[in-house]
Amino acid sequence: MTRSTQARMLREARAAVKNAYAPFSKLKVGAAVLTANGHVYSGCNVENSSYGLTVCAERIAVFKAVSAGEREIKAVAVFASFPQSTIDKRQSKMPQLTPPCGACLQVIAEFSENAEIVLSNGRSTKTYRLRELLPLGFRLDHPACHSG
Ligand code: THU
Repeated sequence: MTRSTQARMLREARAAVKNAYAPFSKLKVGAAVLTANGHVYSGCNVENSSYGLTVCAERIAVFKAVSAGEREIKAVAVFASFPQSTIDKRQSKMPQLTPPCGACLQVIAEFSENAEIVLSNGRSTKTYRLRELLPLGFRLDHPACHSG
């Protein structure tokens, strides 16, 4: 990914934070997905009173892309904005960047061999590859699944 594409993705991920619905955790997350067609789709986390129904920013961005007809993801940017009060109180324990959770990595893997995953919090930015974060993702390609 070029520097300008990365900058654009981080801008879009950061902009998506504005719409995050996170009254419970207070952790607002924005994500942007770059597809093979060069389109960028963004999403934010949407929490629920029934906590387990919460959906992460990354999955929302991926599902927006796929539901628009996209099938190949090249990169994902994640921007997390920790509430200042939380950072001040627990600075040493707070993760500085927010990597996608296991469920999101598995969903990204469905549409990507080895996407670039860019994490930022506005102060620092770090880039990974999907396979670094999910070395042995599940694939439904066992020969038994294709027999008959
Ligand atoms: N969350 C994301 O949206 N993406 C991540 O990468 C990790 C966690 C959200 C889910 C929930 O709304 C809040 O962050 C705290 O877990």
